[in-house]
Amino acid sequence: MATSALICETDAWKDLRAHVEDIKKTHLRELMSDAKRCQSMMIEFDGLLLDYSRQCATVDTFTKLNKLAEAAHLKEKINLMFNGERINSTENRSVLHVALRAPRGSVINSDGKNVVPDVWQVLDKIKEFSERVRSGAWVGATGKALTNVVAIGIGGSFLGPLFVHTALQTDPEAAQLASGRKLHFLANVDPIDVARNLTGLNPETTLVVVVSKTFTTAETMLNARTVREWISAALGPQAVAKHMVSVSTNLTLVEKFGIDPNNAFAFWDWVGGRYSVCSAVGVLPLSLQYGFAVVEKYSSSKELQVLINISIQHLSRKTYLYVLLGLLSVWNVSFLGYPARAILPYSQALEKLAPHIQQVSMESNGKGVSIDGVPLPYETGEIDFGEPGTNGQHSFYQLIHQGRVIPCDFIGVVKSQQPVYLKGELVSNHDELMSNFFAQPDALAYGKTPEQLLKENVPSNLITHKTFSGNRPSLSLLLPSLNAYNIGQLLAIYEHRVAVEGFVWGINSFDQWGVELGKSLATQVRKQLHASRKKGEQIEGFNFSTATLLTRYLEDVVL
Ligand code: F6P
Repeated sequence: MATSALICETDAWKDLRAHVEDIKKTHLRELMSDAKRCQSMMIEFDGLLLDYSRQCATVDTFTKLNKLAEAAHLKEKINLMFNGERINSTENRSVLHVALRAPRGSVINSDGKNVVPDVWQVLDKIKEFSERVRSGAWVGATGKALTNVVAIGIGGSFLGPLFVHTALQTDPEAAQLASGRKLHFLANVDPIDVARNLTGLNPETTLVVVVSKTFTTAETMLNARTVREWISAALGPQAVAKHMVSVSTNLTLVEKFGIDPNNAFAFWDWVGGRYSVCSAVGVLPLSLQYGFAVVEKYSSSKELQVLINISIQHLSRKTYLYVLLGLLSVWNVSFLGYPARAILPYSQALEKLAPHIQQVSMESNGKGVSIDGVPLPYETGEIDFGEPGTNGQHSFYQLIHQGRVIPCDFIGVVKSQQPVYLKGELVSNHDELMSNFFAQPDALAYGKTPEQLLKENVPSNLITHKTFSGNRPSLSLLLPSLNAYNIGQLLAIYEHRVAVEGFVWGINSFDQWGVELGKSLATQVRKQLHASRKKGEQIEGFNFSTATLLTRYLEDVVL
C-alpha cells in the first residue's frame, strides 16, 4: 500500500512546533493590547462576525498554519471531496453531504453522475408529503389528522434534527407554523425513552418516521418494532401503512419491515450519518413540524459556493472562515496541547448544539491511524462538550478559569428570538445574558494578577486562590439572529471545520470503525441473555468480571 508522508514529518509542522515556544512567552494580555493584530483577527461573513483575537496566536502563526494547510494538500482534498472522489477510502464511498445544500440545477458528480437532481427529487417528495400531512389531506387509519410525529433514530439519525428542532422551537415564525403540532424524538433503546415518548400519545393522531441510514441499527429497529406493535395493537396491523414512514438508504429492508416503499424517503451512501441533517433525515421530520419552506432555509447556506471557490494560496478573508477555524483547532490540539473544546452558546435555543457537534467532531476525528492506516504519533480530534451560557458558568467554568486550559467557542446572538420580558430592569433579559457573553472571553484571556488583588485589599491568604492566570484562548462568534438560516450557518461552520481538521491531520474523518467493537460484544451478551433467560443456560465465554456482573443482573431482574 502506497502511503503518503505523515503531516508531522513536514517542515511546516516542525516550524509550528518551534513556534510554540515564542507563543508561550507571550501572554494574551499582551497580544490583546495590539489593536492592529486584533482588527486583523475579525471576519465578517454572511452576517456573522467571528472574532478570534483571543486565540494564543500571532499573525505569524496564521502564516505558518497556512503553510501547514498547503503541506497537507488541503485545497486538493477539498476539491476531491467536491469532485465526488471516494475519499472515504475504508468504506469506498464519496463524501458529498455538501450536495445536500446545492441549489437546484447545480452539478455535483459522484461516479460521473450528477447527484443534485436526486437530492431535489427527494426534497420535492418531502415537500409534497409534508404538506399533505400538515393540511390534513393525509390522515391516519381512523380518519384523524396526524398532528404528532415521532422520529425514531439514533446518532446521526437523531442529533442533528434534534438540534435544529430545539433551535427553531422558540423562533416566532417557526413556532407559529408548528402551532398544534408536536415533534418527538425516540433515540435510546431504554424503555424509559419509549415511555417518555409514547405516554399520553394517541396512535390515531401519530405519524412515526423511522430514520436509519442502514436500517439495521439495533436500537432503532427495536424501537421501531415496539412502536409498530403500539400502532397495531391500537388500530390493527393495516394501520401501519398510514402511520409509519421511513428515511433510509436501504429501501429493501424498509419494505421488509412493512413500510410501503412509496412512503420511504431515500438518501445515499455518500451522506455520512453525522453529516445527514440536510438530507431527508432532518428535512422530513422538521418539514412535518414546521413546513418545508422554513426547513429549506437551514439547508441552504452560502457556504457551498464559498468552499467550491476556495483557494488556499489566495484566500480572501471571507472564504477563510471554515478553513481558519479548522486550522485553529489543529493549532490548539496538536501544538499547544489542549485536547478539549468547550462549545458555549449564549442562547438556550442552542442547547443541543454541543451534543450534535460532539458526534460530528468526535466520531469524525477521533482516530488513531492515518488515512493510509499508519499509526499516528500525534493525537487527533477534540473532546467536545458544552452547555448554554449562563448555565455552564454555574457548572464547569470554574475548571476553565482556574483549572485546565480549554479553548472555548462563545456563540452569541444579536437579536434574541424572544422579546424582553421585564421592563424597568437595569438591562433586558437578553442584555443580561449577553453581558456574560462579552465578559467571559476577557476573564479567560486577561485573568487577574496578584498585584491587582493586592490593590483591592484581598487578604494575603486568599491571593493565590483568587488569582486567575488568564492566557486562556477562546473565539467569539456573533450571529445576527437565530432563524432557520442562521442555524444552518452554524451547522455548516462546524461540519466544514471538522472536515478541515481531518484533512490536515491526514485521517479519514468519514468512517467510524471505533463504534463496531462495542456493538459486536453487545451481540454476544444479547445471545447469552436470551440463552440464560429462555433456556436457563449457564453464563459462558466471558471474563470473570463480566460473568459476575451478568450473574448478578440475571438474578435480580425478572422479565
Ligand atoms: O454510532 C454509529 C452510527 O453508525 C452512526 O455513525 C450513525 O449516525 C448511527 O450509528 C445510526 O446509524 P443508522 O442511521 O444507520 O441507524
